[in-house]
Amino acid sequence: MIFTVAIDGPAAAGKGTISRAVAAHFGFAHLDTGLLYRAVAARGGDPVAAAQALSPEDLARPGLRSLEAGAAASRVAAIPAVRAALARFQRRFARAEGGAVLDGRDIGTVICPEAEVKLYVTATPEVRARRRWLELGGDEAQVLAEVMARDARDMGRATSPLRKATDAEVIDTSDLSAEAAVARAIGIVRDSLAKSRIA
Ligand code: DC
Repeated sequence: MIFTVAIDGPAAAGKGTISRAVAAHFGFAHLDTGLLYRAVAARGGDPVAAAQALSPEDLARPGLRSLEAGAAASRVAAIPAVRAALARFQRRFARAEGGAVLDGRDIGTVICPEAEVKLYVTATPEVRARRRWLELGGDEAQVLAEVMARDARDMGRATSPLRKATDAEVIDTSDLSAEAAVARAIGIVRDSLAKSRIA
């Protein structure tokens, strides 16, 4: 069975939690595509060459989850040739046998517009900044400023900007517990799977 769940949205909206839970629930493979961009930035040197040479070991590098690594990822992600170098791997992953969940910024719009389920997971910048701050510490006002700067860069870039696919379902996690957000996502995927089995 080929079945893709595309999960897009801004930083710290809850995409990772939802993606991991949906993948575990349905036994699908999961790809955190943000990690690819983080690893490209962490390799240093020419980002296009880094994207072309990316290996599994790069994804296991320590420190990829930090705020700085996220900001650096957002910068290399604006380079069209970097995105092109990473697209083929993501597309193959999305359409591999057995079902796949991919989370990122352009999965439902560019990488896999044919995805069976598209979710756009979002929350207010304040709520997202608070989550990042609780997770990583630092100065809360500065974390909010960084979240907003990253939103502006990811939504404002010319190539594959973050935006909701017209056919994506929105899950706003501002006032939802992680459990409630996961339950909603699982319900949407379950309905779509049931329909695809009837069809
Ligand atoms: O999801 P994340 O915070 O790990 O992503 C880090 C950065 O990588 C994000 O700010 C923009 C970029 N990114 C992207 O441009 N496209 C994706 N599909 C995933 C991430």
